[in-house]
Amino acid sequence: MRVLIGVSGSIAAFKSLILARLLYKEGHEVGVVLTRGALNFITPLSFQELAGARVLTDDDFFKGNTHIDLARWADVMVVAPATYNVIGKVASGIADDLLTATAAAFPHPIVFAPAMHTEMWHNRILRRNLDILRGVGHVILPVGEGPLASGDVGEGRMLEPEEIAHYISRLERLMEFWAGKRVVITYGGTYEPIDDVRVITNRSSGRMGLALASWLSMARAHVVAVACGGVPTAPSAEFHRVGRVLELRNLLLDMDYDYLFMAAAVSDYAPDYRPGKIKKSSDVLTLHLKRTVDVLSELGRNKKGTLVGFALEERDRLEEEAMRKLREKNLDYVVANPIDAIGSERTEVFLFGREGLLGRYSGNKWQVASEIVMRLASV
Ligand SMILES: Cc1cc2nc3c(=O)[nH]c(=O)nc-3n(C[C@H](O)[C@H](O)[C@H](O)COP(=O)(O)O)c2cc1C
Repeated sequence: MRVLIGVSGSIAAFKSLILARLLYKEGHEVGVVLTRGALNFITPLSFQELAGARVLTDDDFFKGNTHIDLARWADVMVVAPATYNVIGKVASGIADDLLTATAAAFPHPIVFAPAMHTEMWHNRILRRNLDILRGVGHVILPVGEGPLASGDVGEGRMLEPEEIAHYISRLERLMEFWAGKRVVITYGGTYEPIDDVRVITNRSSGRMGLALASWLSMARAHVVAVACGGVPTAPSAEFHRVGRVLELRNLLLDMDYDYLFMAAAVSDYAPDYRPGKIKKSSDVLTLHLKRTVDVLSELGRNKKGTLVGFALEERDRLEEEAMRKLREKNLDYVVANPIDAIGSERTEVFLFGREGLLGRYSGNKWQVASEIVMRLASV
């Protein structure tokens, strides 16, 4: 693979040398873009010598269409270390140097490995910028906790180069399996209207579906993203947004797919819809809820490809419930997670196939999603 490493001005820049070397030794072709900030910490020569890399800096920015050529050249782009500054610039659509202009032109999700001091890592502007990047499908690798270059101890250390290399290298295997496959991913929580103003929904953040869409888009699958409710758009070749369970059902039953990941949290019950706005007239308002259609069962009865269901269960009944769902609904796989995972960034999942447990993964949802798509590629 052709891997483009963007290096920005963090004290962790020396680790990107090790990353470049590891990727080179694994047989990848390595390209490097250094920001002006990065040049304070590391030299182009080191990358050239250690990784046979083509190294570019801002001196190359206005020598033709370098950013476009680089973005077209790379199969994968990883920004490691990613500074507070570079994260903010990419999230804000700023492209005033070679690294950020290349990021703007790169048509696939980008992998960011942040590195910064703990105070910067907890800064609320950074939090918002990371959410923006995730929301448009980029992958944010987790940071480590431990001694920082300043001598302090805390969160914000860049992930070790070996771990970053591991994620990048597995993309090659993912591409072999997923490239060109039509993959439908539903995510978020359905909205069932009570009247024209209020809805019943749930606390699904859509993060797991977004993370799956990021990895599969990077692996060049033809991703069809189906967002339920107000969750962010996902990186995809096709995008749909639905509200009600029935809308979701009608859309999905019409779709062809090689794989369908049903990561959306679908309402089991819906109220009787009343047009207009229910007046605040009495102290108690009773809503009658009726069972909604079981979308997954219908998909299981009209199967067009591999069906992956998701189950949110109590920990002590996780396996039993996941296997029951798999059999009763004619699914191929079930990703089961404990109830405490809903709406949170970290999760723990259990992947079941027809024969039982295939794997157990924990971490942030981007790490776990990568394990799931990897495991399915190796079955
Ligand atoms: C010694 C030193 C270490 C730094 N380390 C980091 C760091 O780890 N992470 C970070 O976000 N910024 C760090 N900075 C600040 C950035 O270098 C600065 O914001 C710079 O403008 C980043 O430019 P760039 O993102 O274009 O490379 C450091 C600055 C100095 C002087």
